[in-house]
Amino acid sequence: MDGGRRVLSNVIHSQVELHREFGGVVPELAARDHLERLPHLLDLALEKAGVQPSDIDLLAVTRGPGLVGCLLVGAGVGAGLATAWAKPLTGVNHLWGHIYAAMLTRPDLEPPLLGLVVSGAHSDLVRMPEHGRFEVMGRTRDDAAGEAFDKAARMLGLGYPGGPALDRLARTGDARRQPLPKPSLPGLEFSFSGLKTALLYRLRDLGEEAGEQEKADLAAAFERSVVESLLEKLDQALTREPVAEVVVAGGVAANTLLRRRAAEVVADRAHLTMPPLELCTDNAAMIAAAGFYGGANQSATVDPSLGWV
Ligand code: KG4
Ligand code: ZN
Repeated sequence: MDGGRRVLSNVIHSQVELHREFGGVVPELAARDHLERLPHLLDLALEKAGVQPSDIDLLAVTRGPGLVGCLLVGAGVGAGLATAWAKPLTGVNHLWGHIYAAMLTRPDLEPPLLGLVVSGAHSDLVRMPEHGRFEVMGRTRDDAAGEAFDKAARMLGLGYPGGPALDRLARTGDARRQPLPKPSLPGLEFSFSGLKTALLYRLRDLGEEAGEQEKADLAAAFERSVVESLLEKLDQALTREPVAEVVVAGGVAANTLLRRRAAEVVADRAHLTMPPLELCTDNAAMIAAAGFYGGANQSATVDPSLGWV
């Protein structure tokens, strides 16, 4: 990154093929692959950016939350480079990174903002009053939205990675033909485990009758329930505390229906920013941006168990 906003290179090695045969991420393989790939990826990133190590002012690395083996590899490589190149190193919260991905798309975007971060392990509504400060307003009581999509995809026989496959199948279905309940908890909390069970029972009841069209309709219904539940709370938060900027980010923000409906729900009440698909799912540029704006030097005023510190 050049400063906190301009991406010079953003190299991604996807592990999808590595994990596919296991139907999900295998933590041990993920960590090992990080170790094997990182040195080459770093060379590639520097080459594409046209930058020498001596040009660098600051290194940023994800310090959590995430798979501990992968985090350890990243932190080890980061600390090694910082020592070898005699550069400062900052540890960045992964969830902050998702919010900062939005800043890469809009150079003029500044807090205060309301954020909905939806990833594989988190569904969090946060207010960000200023750079480096996050306050959790609502979160999930059980599964995260991404996790729910991945599990539903598995039930529908779509394999791994589930979220994008369910998104594709839902485009050919009609949610009204197989309606599923929309989770609704009081306040700003989410819950997706009941919806998951509803899908399981519906599939069991349909049995042999669950053909391709029924599965597509169920994918559409499941997606609609998750998306409407997420946006209902975003809507409530925005009504309760009006703010000029809203960010929807994280892997699930790549979802087609969520992108369309978020724009309709926020409408002209605030400026909505959703990063482009390649910046919604995990990437290094967002971590560098968050590192530039504070990284470990700032703290979130929340309970550490919520994951935002
Ligand atoms: O942020 P992310 O890339 O990694 C984590 O930090 O977890 O999010 C990954 C999650 C996965 O659960 C994946 O299924 C979901 O994002 N996802 C999607 C879509 N693309 C990725 N879910 C629904 N629709 C999509 N198009
Ligand atoms: Zn993520």
